[in-house]
Amino acid sequence: MIRLADEAATLRLGAALAGLVRPGDVITLSGDLGAGKTTLARGLLAALGLAGEAPSPTFAIVQTYAPPETSMPVAHIDLYRIDNPDEAEELGLDDLRHDHCLLVEWPERLSAAAWQDGLRLRLQAVNEGGRRLTAEVPPSWEARWPPT
Ligand SMILES: Nc1ncnc2c1ncn2[C@@H]1O[C@H](COP(=O)(O)OP(=O)(O)OP(=O)(O)O)[C@@H](O)[C@H]1O
Ligand SMILES: [Mg+2]
Repeated sequence: MIRLADEAATLRLGAALAGLVRPGDVITLSGDLGAGKTTLARGLLAALGLAGEAPSPTFAIVQTYAPPETSMPVAHIDLYRIDNPDEAEELGLDDLRHDHCLLVEWPERLSAAAWQDGLRLRLQAVNEGGRRLTAEVPPSWEARWPPT
């Protein structure tokens, strides 16, 4: 469990992940509305070189980034508005995964089986303020998690 005392800490954790991700990786971001999922993604994208604040992909659903905007191709995805797993087929996530790193908010909109090989992060608000972050770590992330 990692304590994230404030927004800056969430951004820093995202930035630390930027040094570890590779194309083909999936990082899922779970947690209630306002838990800090987009904040973490913003920290990661900024550390990959994105100028300006990444928009929340709530309406676009899939927002892609590629060099030279970011140092590596990334797809920032928000499945909140997906209410039928079949709709997700049309998003072409499997194709995107061939050359992008996928950051997925609201992954539970699809079946859990879709993300078993991803780094599965969960953000929860704590009463004192701040957030706690927990991770489910697949074999491909065992040597990389937690970021130092
Ligand atoms: N560690 C933290 N402590 C306190 N506030 C935080 C922390 N991390 C992020 N926040 C704040 O939480 C708020 C919501 O963050 P964010 O938009 O990233 O949530 P989200 O999980 O993406 O929500 P949604 O489900 O609506 O997409 C922002 O105001 C952000 O500054
Ligand atoms: Mg969000």
